[in-house]
Amino acid sequence: MPTPSALTTPSLPYTPDYPIRTERLDLRPVTHDDFAAIHTYQRRPEVCRYLYWGPFDEAESRASVATKSTRTTLREPGDILQLAVVARETGTLVGDVTFVWTSREHRQGGIGYVFNPDHAGHGYATEAARALLKLGFEELQLHRIQAELDGRNTASANLLERLGMRREGHLRENEFLDGEWTDEVVYAMLAREWRAQRGEL
Ligand SMILES: CC(C)(COP(=O)(O)OP(=O)(O)OC[C@H]1O[C@@H](n2cnc3c(N)ncnc32)[C@H](O)[C@@H]1OP(=O)(O)O)[C@@H](O)C(=O)NCCC(=O)NCCS
Repeated sequence: MPTPSALTTPSLPYTPDYPIRTERLDLRPVTHDDFAAIHTYQRRPEVCRYLYWGPFDEAESRASVATKSTRTTLREPGDILQLAVVARETGTLVGDVTFVWTSREHRQGGIGYVFNPDHAGHGYATEAARALLKLGFEELQLHRIQAELDGRNTASANLLERLGMRREGHLRENEFLDGEWTDEVVYAMLAREWRAQRGEL
């Protein structure tokens, strides 16, 4: 029986074939030219309500965009991809997504997403997040992909439910944010569940 880490994984460093295309979206590396589009939502308090950061002023968004622009390749566990999500038809940057390769040994990863509320309600975030699951399960051969969220973040929970991820944990008051105790919720999906969802089992 092979150990999990001995199973097929792509050779490292691993850079996705950009842009990652979905039906309506291109996921591509962030560039400095994306500053204005990203700052537009990073500065909005309602966007950052359940995040660990923000709202960002211009300097903070410039720093954030600069960091994101470097996160295009996975070299070792802990590395992160941060990608702009562009509606192909209009060329509009509608949000950005994060993929973290958390463990080689345990073949684990995580996903995250922040979208411009002006482009909410079209399923763009769900479509982009699904592309990250595909990347993790089909390219990186991960066994499990997780997402963590503030227990009050129903928009994010609804998105994860749409993806077919399972609500695995509800941690009571495990964080103290902005002067109050808050719950954290954990969703996850296994590779075999992804394959079943794709009709491959
Ligand atoms: C979490 C977040 C990305 C969800 O955004 P969203 O717009 O609700 O998600 P989607 O883009 O997938 O759109 C889903 C909506 O579009 C609708 N929709 C329309 N066409 C759709 C399609 N083709 N596919 C899926 N949904 C579609 C859905 O019914 C849903 O509508 P509803 O909100 O009335 O239920 C957004 O609220 C956000 O960026 N929040 C701030 C940052 C944040 O908290 N990030 C998560 C940290 S854990």
